[in-house]
Amino acid sequence: LARGVTEPDLVGRHVVVTAGGTREPLDPVRFLGNRSSGKQGYALARTAAARGARVTLIEANTGLPDPAGVDVVRIGTAVQLREAVLKAAPDADVVVMAAAVADFRPENYATGKIKKKDGQEPEPIVLVRNPDILAEISADRSRPGQMIVGFAAETDDVLANGRAKLARKGCDLLVVNEVGERKTFGSEENEAVVLGADGSETPVPYGPKEALAETVWDLVASRLG
Ligand code: CTP
Ligand code: CA
Repeated sequence: LARGVTEPDLVGRHVVVTAGGTREPLDPVRFLGNRSSGKQGYALARTAAARGARVTLIEANTGLPDPAGVDVVRIGTAVQLREAVLKAAPDADVVVMAAAVADFRPENYATGKIKKKDGQEPEPIVLVRNPDILAEISADRSRPGQMIVGFAAETDDVLANGRAKLARKGCDLLVVNEVGERKTFGSEENEAVVLGADGSETPVPYGPKEALAETVWDLVASRLG
């Protein structure tokens, strides 16, 4: 949807957006991470602020400069992200989980740097599940009328996997990206379909992350009471 002027249709709304990728530490110098750049989440935060919302941006390891007029909360791990989201969500009209949350974290954290030892094979890294933040806040629903938006990147059977994930998570909208050749992490552009729990399906053509963000806010604004 190309917009000539930005409509202030989110005035009086508080939106919480998560962005970036969590890092799960192994020791003081190493972590397990992912390639999320945070650009889509930042585009969501900027466009929501431009449409009049009060914006809380919870960011994980993006290194991006703070957008003007947005409250930024910095976190590192999935567990910290959960704490920050659970703290901000009760006051939010909308929560958008654009962050790439690590599904697993190392079971143990070494307080000193892990050293190699002569003639010894490395220890295996044992992983444990991280909490599913999107599923948790979607199951809560203590704030009437709150809208919850998830993101998913899929490589195969994009629509079927997206529908199943939307149902599993219990959110209101799921933005599904097809990951492939030119649609790589860190790029400036994105192509997606936004699935609604109401059965709606909104394709968003390949284009700037701002355009996808505007479509998300169009869909959110039309559904907020
Ligand atoms: N998410 C979350 N907490 C997690 C994992 C994911 O809140 N521990 C959120 C993401 O922020 C995203 C949505 O759930 O909005 C979908 O993430 P995705 O990784 O596609 O879903 P998973 O359930 O982890 O499925 P998969 O096994 O395909 O990774
Ligand atoms: Ca995942």
